[in-house]
Amino acid sequence: MLMLAMCFAVLGACGSIEGDDLNEEILSAGTASAGTSVYASNCATCHGASLQGATGPALSANAFDANQIKTAVRNGKGTMPPFSQTLLTTQQLSDLVAYIATVTL
Ligand code: HEC
Repeated sequence: MLMLAMCFAVLGACGSIEGDDLNEEILSAGTASAGTSVYASNCATCHGASLQGATGPALSANAFDANQIKTAVRNGKGTMPPFSQTLLTTQQLSDLVAYIATVTL
Protein backbone atom coordinates (compact mmCIF):
# COMPACT_ATOMS: atom_id res chain seq x y z
CA MET A 1 0.00 0.00 0.00
CA LEU A 2 2.84 2.38 0.90
CA MET A 3 4.59 1.41 -2.34
CA LEU A 4 1.41 2.30 -4.21
CA ALA A 5 1.18 5.68 -2.48
CA MET A 6 4.82 6.42 -3.32
CA CYS A 7 4.21 5.43 -6.90
CA PHE A 8 1.34 7.90 -7.19
CA ALA A 9 3.40 10.57 -5.46
CA VAL A 10 6.07 10.14 -8.14
CA LEU A 11 3.44 10.22 -10.87
CA GLY A 12 2.06 13.41 -9.31
CA ALA A 13 5.50 14.97 -9.59
CA CYS A 14 5.24 14.55 -13.35
CA GLY A 15 2.17 16.80 -13.26
CA SER A 16 4.23 19.92 -13.77
CA ILE A 17 3.19 19.95 -17.42
CA GLU A 18 0.72 22.78 -18.01
CA GLY A 19 -2.07 23.70 -20.37
CA ASP A 20 -1.88 22.32 -23.89
CA ASP A 21 0.95 19.96 -23.04
CA LEU A 22 -1.17 18.45 -20.32
CA ASN A 23 -4.13 18.17 -22.68
CA GLU A 24 -2.01 16.35 -25.21
CA GLU A 25 -0.50 14.11 -22.59
CA ILE A 26 -3.90 13.09 -21.24
CA LEU A 27 -5.56 12.78 -24.63
CA SER A 28 -2.83 10.56 -25.98
CA ALA A 29 -2.95 8.44 -22.82
CA GLY A 30 -6.71 7.93 -22.91
CA THR A 31 -9.09 5.95 -25.06
CA ALA A 32 -12.37 7.72 -25.77
CA SER A 33 -14.34 4.49 -26.28
CA ALA A 34 -13.29 3.26 -22.83
CA GLY A 35 -14.17 6.65 -21.36
CA THR A 36 -17.77 6.31 -22.51
CA SER A 37 -18.60 3.68 -19.90
CA VAL A 38 -16.54 5.42 -17.21
CA TYR A 39 -18.64 8.51 -17.87
CA ALA A 40 -21.93 6.61 -17.86
CA SER A 41 -21.19 4.97 -14.49
CA ASN A 42 -19.74 7.98 -12.68
CA CYS A 43 -20.83 11.27 -14.19
CA ALA A 44 -24.01 10.87 -16.25
CA THR A 45 -26.43 11.18 -13.33
CA CYS A 46 -25.28 14.74 -12.66
CA HIS A 47 -24.01 15.86 -16.07
CA GLY A 48 -26.56 14.17 -18.35
CA ALA A 49 -26.36 11.04 -20.49
CA SER A 50 -25.24 13.11 -23.49
CA LEU A 51 -23.09 15.48 -21.39
CA GLN A 52 -25.78 18.10 -21.91
CA GLY A 53 -25.84 19.05 -18.23
CA ALA A 54 -28.31 18.32 -15.41
CA THR A 55 -27.57 19.25 -11.79
CA GLY A 56 -23.99 19.80 -13.00
CA PRO A 57 -22.97 21.92 -16.00
CA ALA A 58 -22.79 20.60 -19.56
CA LEU A 59 -19.40 19.02 -20.27
CA SER A 60 -17.68 19.29 -23.61
CA ALA A 61 -14.33 20.00 -25.22
CA ASN A 62 -15.35 23.59 -25.84
CA ALA A 63 -16.45 24.15 -22.24
CA PHE A 64 -13.61 22.57 -20.23
CA ASP A 65 -10.04 21.54 -20.99
CA ALA A 66 -8.33 18.40 -19.75
CA ASN A 67 -6.77 20.14 -16.79
CA GLN A 68 -10.08 21.57 -15.57
CA ILE A 69 -11.77 18.18 -15.86
CA LYS A 70 -8.96 16.40 -14.07
CA THR A 71 -8.95 18.97 -11.26
CA ALA A 72 -12.74 18.87 -10.81
CA VAL A 73 -12.76 15.05 -10.72
CA ARG A 74 -9.90 14.67 -8.26
CA ASN A 75 -10.83 17.58 -5.97
CA GLY A 76 -14.59 17.85 -6.42
CA LYS A 77 -16.29 21.20 -6.78
CA GLY A 78 -19.29 22.60 -4.91
CA THR A 79 -21.69 19.69 -4.48
CA MET A 80 -19.67 17.49 -6.86
CA PRO A 81 -17.84 14.83 -4.83
CA PRO A 82 -14.12 14.18 -5.34
CA PHE A 83 -13.12 10.90 -7.08
CA SER A 84 -9.98 9.37 -5.56
CA GLN A 85 -7.60 6.93 -7.24
CA THR A 86 -9.60 4.17 -5.59
CA LEU A 87 -12.76 5.23 -7.40
CA LEU A 88 -11.17 6.21 -10.71
CA THR A 89 -7.67 5.14 -11.73
CA THR A 90 -5.37 7.45 -13.65
CA GLN A 91 -6.12 5.41 -16.77
CA GLN A 92 -9.88 5.73 -16.26
CA LEU A 93 -9.52 9.48 -15.77
CA SER A 94 -7.48 9.73 -18.98
CA ASP A 95 -10.10 7.71 -20.84
CA LEU A 96 -12.81 9.96 -19.43
CA VAL A 97 -11.02 13.12 -20.54
CA ALA A 98 -10.42 11.64 -23.99
CA TYR A 99 -14.14 10.90 -24.27
CA ILE A 100 -15.26 14.36 -23.15
CA ALA A 101 -12.76 15.87 -25.62
CA THR A 102 -14.64 14.19 -28.48
CA VAL A 103 -17.86 16.02 -27.59
CA THR A 104 -18.76 19.51 -28.70
CA LEU A 105 -22.12 20.92 -27.65
C1 HEC B 1 -23.31 14.32 -7.54
C2 HEC B 1 -23.35 15.01 -8.82
C3 HEC B 1 -22.07 15.03 -9.65
C4 HEC B 1 -21.32 13.98 -10.10
C5 HEC B 1 -21.51 12.49 -9.80
C6 HEC B 1 -20.30 14.54 -10.95
N1 HEC B 1 -20.42 15.90 -10.98
FE1 HEC B 1 -19.21 17.18 -12.01
N2 HEC B 1 -20.19 18.76 -11.19
C7 HEC B 1 -21.35 18.68 -10.43
C8 HEC B 1 -21.76 20.03 -10.05
C9 HEC B 1 -22.98 20.38 -9.20
C10 HEC B 1 -20.82 20.91 -10.62
C11 HEC B 1 -20.78 22.45 -10.50
C12 HEC B 1 -19.90 22.78 -9.31
C13 HEC B 1 -19.78 24.26 -9.03
O1 HEC B 1 -19.43 25.03 -9.97
O2 HEC B 1 -20.00 24.65 -7.90
C14 HEC B 1 -19.85 20.08 -11.34
C15 HEC B 1 -18.79 20.58 -12.06
C16 HEC B 1 -18.00 19.83 -12.91
C17 HEC B 1 -16.99 20.37 -13.81
C18 HEC B 1 -16.66 21.84 -13.98
C19 HEC B 1 -15.52 22.23 -13.09
C20 HEC B 1 -15.18 23.70 -13.21
O3 HEC B 1 -13.98 24.00 -13.30
O4 HEC B 1 -16.10 24.55 -13.17
C21 HEC B 1 -16.45 19.32 -14.47
C22 HEC B 1 -15.36 19.39 -15.53
C23 HEC B 1 -17.09 18.12 -13.97
N3 HEC B 1 -18.02 18.48 -13.03
C24 HEC B 1 -16.80 16.85 -14.41
C25 HEC B 1 -17.34 15.70 -13.85
C26 HEC B 1 -16.95 14.37 -14.25
C27 HEC B 1 -15.95 14.05 -15.35
C28 HEC B 1 -17.64 13.51 -13.45
C29 HEC B 1 -17.54 12.01 -13.40
C30 HEC B 1 -16.27 11.47 -12.96
C31 HEC B 1 -18.48 14.30 -12.57
N4 HEC B 1 -18.27 15.62 -12.86
C32 HEC B 1 -19.34 13.79 -11.62
C33 HEC B 1 -21.98 17.53 -10.02
C34 HEC B 1 -21.50 16.24 -10.22
